Amino acid sequence: MSGDLHVSTAVIVVAAGSGTRLGAALPKAFVDLAGQTLLERSLRSIILLPYPVQVVVVAPADFLSDAQAIAHKVAPGLDALVSVVTGGATRHDSVAAGLAALQSSVQVVLVHDAARALTPTTLFADVDMAVQATGAGIVPALPVVDSLKQVDVTGGVLGIADREQLRAAQTPQGFPRAELDAAYAAAGSSDYTDDAAVFAAYGGAVTTIPGDEVAFKITTAWDLNRAHQVLGSVPDAHRVGTGIDVHAFGEAENLWLAGLHWPGEKELSGHSDGDAVAHAICDALLSAAGLGDIGSRFGTSDPAYANASGEVFVRGTIELIASAGFEPINVSVQLIGNKPRFSARRVEAQAVLTEWVGAPVSVSATTTDGLGFTGRGEGVAAIATALVRQR
Ligand code: CTP
Ligand code: MG
Repeated sequence: MSGDLHVSTAVIVVAAGSGTRLGAALPKAFVDLAGQTLLERSLRSIILLPYPVQVVVVAPADFLSDAQAIAHKVAPGLDALVSVVTGGATRHDSVAAGLAALQSSVQVVLVHDAARALTPTTLFADVDMAVQATGAGIVPALPVVDSLKQVDVTGGVLGIADREQLRAAQTPQGFPRAELDAAYAAAGSSDYTDDAAVFAAYGGAVTTIPGDEVAFKITTAWDLNRAHQVLGSVPDAHRVGTGIDVHAFGEAENLWLAGLHWPGEKELSGHSDGDAVAHAICDALLSAAGLGDIGSRFGTSDPAYANASGEVFVRGTIELIASAGFEPINVSVQLIGNKPRFSARRVEAQAVLTEWVGAPVSVSATTTDGLGFTGRGEGVAAIATALVRQR
């Protein structure tokens, strides 16, 4: 396990169960829900956290390569942070296997059921923050709405429970890593059905925070059907991103800007062809999809991109966001600079960029009234906003 990434939070995604109650031909985490497996949907939610986390997927022994393929598809380029380990006979054993794979830098560990496939990213962030703020074990939980009866084996009612005092526990459940390690080490194998129970048995304090209805666990065929209905009724997740790029003019008369060649105009300098408009579009799209920026994705000094055109970066960006499950809805980009005189070729630039992005790109241009580096004609800046949709 690579220990040099220094992430402080990890998410263990337990996906090693067989899904007996669902009764599908595949283990539950590998069952399809509207075009994506439950595991894929769980992972997509986690990697949209706005900071890097280690992710350990715990999978059935026969499904390690399937789990690896799903993880790679969801988080291309994050292979160092995402690993797959073999689960055990019980959920408890599977969590223990996940704990054994954590990097040394991890301080907070979240344990999540892959079966809670629609859990929103915000719940992961909320649990992580609450653990950091309190140092306690944190359980997202919902009030119980039904009246509760205690019964004997024949169904005869023995008594009632006060639902005001009860909560239904969900995942992700979060804990200080050292204490959860110790609790699991002390518990050996056990019948506890969640991690908070293991943690509390070891003496750890556990607090609840509000759960989320859509984080329900897919257990039966009825639940899978409900998940289909929920997906159908929830509008596509839309996300925006911004990107800015600046390049200085060089000497040669070989300008590429906004996807167009500008004869007689000074080129923009840079490792690539310096097309600031194209680069700002890439940054906006990558940011909207939660995939970082052009420098971290393509490597600003990578020889493969020496003199690369804006088209290479824009088309590469569209591929990256597509493999993370996003498609562009539209992009708006503004060029800031005195040169070149842009308005006469604005429509032409829009057509080229729209072709590359595969969705409408609107381009505008402005000057800065002679102020700053753009006003002095030293270079140009471009600022873009992108809207993407989760497919
Ligand atoms: N789990 C696991 N290893 C096990 C058992 C369960 O990693 N040996 C995981 C499941 O994959 C699931 C989560 O724990 O994501 C919650 O368990 P549950 O909903 O009970 O799933 P299954 O055990 O797969 O289903 P069933 O009990 O119906 O067989
Ligand atoms: Mg089970």
